[in-house]
Amino acid sequence: MKDSMTWEETIIKIRKEDAFKELVEKAYFDENLELNVKRFGYSDEFKETLKVITSYSPEASSILDIGCGNGISSVNFALQKYHVTAVEPDPSFTVGAGAIKKLKKSYELDNLDIYEAFAEDINFKSNSFDIVYVRQAMHHANNLEKFIKECVRVLKPNGLLLTIRDHVIYNEVDKECFLKAHPLHKFYGGENAFTANEYKNAITNAGAEILKELRYYDSIINYFPSTDNEVNNLKETNKLNQKKRLVKKIGKIANSSFVWNLYCFIYKYKPLNEASIPGRMYSYIAIKK
Ligand SMILES: C[S@@+](CC[C@H](N)C(=O)[O-])C[C@H]1O[C@@H](n2cnc3c(N)ncnc32)[C@H](O)[C@@H]1O
Repeated sequence: MKDSMTWEETIIKIRKEDAFKELVEKAYFDENLELNVKRFGYSDEFKETLKVITSYSPEASSILDIGCGNGISSVNFALQKYHVTAVEPDPSFTVGAGAIKKLKKSYELDNLDIYEAFAEDINFKSNSFDIVYVRQAMHHANNLEKFIKECVRVLKPNGLLLTIRDHVIYNEVDKECFLKAHPLHKFYGGENAFTANEYKNAITNAGAEILKELRYYDSIINYFPSTDNEVNNLKETNKLNQKKRLVKKIGKIANSSFVWNLYCFIYKYKPLNEASIPGRMYSYIAIKK
């Protein structure tokens, strides 16, 4: 094996290995591009994203999808009748613009335009799009400030910026843990992450107002394919276990809701702890001012 593989070589490799079967499915990396599109279109993540779009931007008709990979979101937005402009720097037919070109043909979409470019270098006219959607791509920025500045520049005034599922780190040590835990970073070396403040500063410095920060457990947009039920069960189990530990320490008085609430208040205890998830993902909903 070479020191470092390309992203395309990495995906071709993992498709052949049983150990990565689940990841290939969960990340929509199947060789069958239409299958990825279908599965993403049915996903609770995409359904929730559409809800966000229709509630914040009901009149929108144009979407710029930046860093759109193999086109799962671009094609689904186009199938929802939006006029979609897909931008992806990787030309490959496996995971890049080539794959979207194939999909455009097979779905016969005349409302989907495809460009090969980095977000930092898009040269669309200012104030052109109703929505800029960026899924799992902002954390790959070569220059985060420039990346977001371009996204906001091409948005119409009051246009909606959706940055979806970007890895968040708390500090450099946390970043190291994330990169070590990432299943593909060791092959292609292209993973990255920023702090929530770095994302937020980039968005506000670019002239957009953040309407909502969706932390990891705030939305199924982030934690899908985990379900709401799974997350609620996890919350209850963690609470129960923590209560048991407290009973061991201070006795049955820990079962009183007053004592339990006081404990949670004093120790800022939260039953769902995103800190244990390396590179937990956040999403941002913002509008251009
Ligand atoms: C994790 S993939 C996400 C792909 C797609 N948005 C999805 O959700 O399936 C990250 C994508 O960002 C693209 N990318 C990397 N750097 C970029 C940049 N500076 N500007 C735009 N896209 C970039 C990569 O080529 C890759 O396709």
